[in-house]
Amino acid sequence: MASKGSQPAEKKQRTDEQKKGCIVIPDDYCGYDLEHFCIPGHYASDVKHVMIPKGLILDRTEKLAQDICRDLQAPLVALCVLKGGYQFFTDLLDFIKNYNASAARSFQMQVDFIRLKSYVDDKSSGEIKVIGGDSMENLRGKNVLICEDIIDTGATMTKLLELMKKFEPANVKVASLFVKRTPLSVGYRPDYTGFEIPNEFVVGYALDYNEYFRDLNHVCVINEHGQKKYAT
Ligand code: HPA
Ligand code: MG
Repeated sequence: MASKGSQPAEKKQRTDEQKKGCIVIPDDYCGYDLEHFCIPGHYASDVKHVMIPKGLILDRTEKLAQDICRDLQAPLVALCVLKGGYQFFTDLLDFIKNYNASAARSFQMQVDFIRLKSYVDDKSSGEIKVIGGDSMENLRGKNVLICEDIIDTGATMTKLLELMKKFEPANVKVASLFVKRTPLSVGYRPDYTGFEIPNEFVVGYALDYNEYFRDLNHVCVINEHGQKKYAT
């Protein structure tokens, strides 16, 4: 019971948008204090707060795996976009394998990797380069599930999908752990999204800032000190 004279706090209602498709982290969200999580000492002064703990990422990824298994068909090629996508890819595939081990309808899967480069510091260079992985010729006639860490402006994924068309895959779906709300968005939305996040630069769970922070378990927001320390 609220004490006399004070009003009980209004419970926030989830908007229709927040009920749609993925978990939406609002702009006024300030995450969790670092002191409540195990953060490696070498990054403790470089991040503001934990935005999404690894445990929650895994729980959400399990559900994405279930949705994917219900929708997609063999022959499936799961294509990891390196380097940032490796942790999401590994965890997503573990859940898919577990599902396959017990489901009435299992499907065979191949894995493939592609490496793109498009970012210097926290700015998009506007270019994508395929700098690693097998030829996309392997994807001809296959059902492809692209696994990406984050859709920021969406320009990289739009260009990758355009590039892939030449190799005539049977079907292409995209799973991204994060979609960022940014005014620079080209409007692209993936088929499967883990979380929609505010327009902040996040690191950890394999997402990097100039190759640092991939060795941080939780997804955190980088601070000014971290940006200066690890600037190119
Ligand atoms: N973090 C890491 N990599 C990224 C981000 C981000 O917020 N946006 C685009 N690439
Ligand atoms: Mg990426």
